[in-house]
Amino acid sequence: MMSSPSDRSLFDAAAAILRENDRGTYTVPAKGLYPFQWNWDSCLTALGERHLDERRAWLEIETLLAHQWPDGMVPHIVFHATDEGYFPGPAVWATGRATPTSGITQPPVLGFVLQRLCAEAQDRAFAQNRARALMPKVAAWHRWFYANRDPKRTGLVAILHPWESGRDNSIDWDAPLAAVPTEGVGEYRRRDTQHVDPAQRPTKGEYDRYLWLVQHFRGLDWDNAKLHDASPFRVVDPGFNAILIRSEEALGELAEGLGEPAIAAAARERTVAARAALEMLWSESHGQYLCFDRVTGKRIDSPSVGGLLPLFANVGDAERSARLAATIRSWRSRTAYGVPSHSPADPRFERKRYWRGPCWLIVNYMIADGLSRSGLKEHAAEVVAHSLALIRHSGFAEYYDPLDGTPLGGRRFTWTAAMAMEFLAPAGV
Ligand code: GLC
Repeated sequence: MMSSPSDRSLFDAAAAILRENDRGTYTVPAKGLYPFQWNWDSCLTALGERHLDERRAWLEIETLLAHQWPDGMVPHIVFHATDEGYFPGPAVWATGRATPTSGITQPPVLGFVLQRLCAEAQDRAFAQNRARALMPKVAAWHRWFYANRDPKRTGLVAILHPWESGRDNSIDWDAPLAAVPTEGVGEYRRRDTQHVDPAQRPTKGEYDRYLWLVQHFRGLDWDNAKLHDASPFRVVDPGFNAILIRSEEALGELAEGLGEPAIAAAARERTVAARAALEMLWSESHGQYLCFDRVTGKRIDSPSVGGLLPLFANVGDAERSARLAATIRSWRSRTAYGVPSHSPADPRFERKRYWRGPCWLIVNYMIADGLSRSGLKEHAAEVVAHSLALIRHSGFAEYYDPLDGTPLGGRRFTWTAAMAMEFLAPAGV
């Protein structure tokens, strides 16, 4: 895809950001704002790193997996170094790990990344050896999900904290989060709003509840066998489940190819129930999937990008994919750039506030990949074109205003740069 000299310089600018945020064995999402290793950031960053140095890409993943919990969970943050610039830090989480980590997880995109690193590898033998060593750990994480986050075996896993979704303050969580108390949270000083305009970040009401949940889980000694039933926030996110399904499928195919039939069979088996169950979250009137609140037993009426991400796992049939593609176009008819993180037709849409409206390139990447795999190449190309236009106009921001492309949140952002490299490189989407 890389054709013009300006593409080359864009790619080089992205590569410079990856190098700048490289801490040797892991990459920080952004200087200042996010000074540690984040789970799905690292995985998606490895896709950019592979264009520069395949061994470094594998190291990113190995570092993350070195901090997997004994029960299989891969934590959402690994606090490799001390840094007062981020809150809540290790003392608040108090998970008791040798290298401190948070106590929750993040969207499991790792299986997908592993498969992609292998499929596109220059050094095949090296990649296959690394994959062989890491596959059992990924399988353990996937098993952990179904054992701990789907105790009733519905086929779908729940998130217990909005931070687990990766879409922290999505409108999806407004109703379920309202049921989380704030008593006893105490005084605290946020650091995110010192780095970024508070109008582009979650509110204090949301932060109080984020922290209440952390304190509640800490009070249960981070015992994952207890957390699900004890959490007042238990939400089934179609986007999160789709990412898990895609990673399971990728793990299955990879394991099959590398002569690990037991891992392959188990991964395949887990996706069968998940695929069928996800269909229950389809909303005909919205033309997309919706979240489900496991506490109230009700669907959440909130058309967010989480409900478009099932494209990434090719859930449903060709008709479903076409409907999702049409929904994306209808959203975009109201904005200059796609794909917004929430329907711009919803009065709750906020163009600048984090996950309540802005465009995020990692989401665009997964959606474009899904559209392309569904054969909807023109739709995929549109999403890629919008992503590159945002970068050209506004640099490598954390997220962007879909109405005018204004860069928002952190700057020189690692995974945005990594996605740009994926879009621009010859084997890109
Ligand atoms: C924010 C995002 C999350 C990301 C993290 C680091 O919390 O919502 O998805 O992993 O920042 O970039």
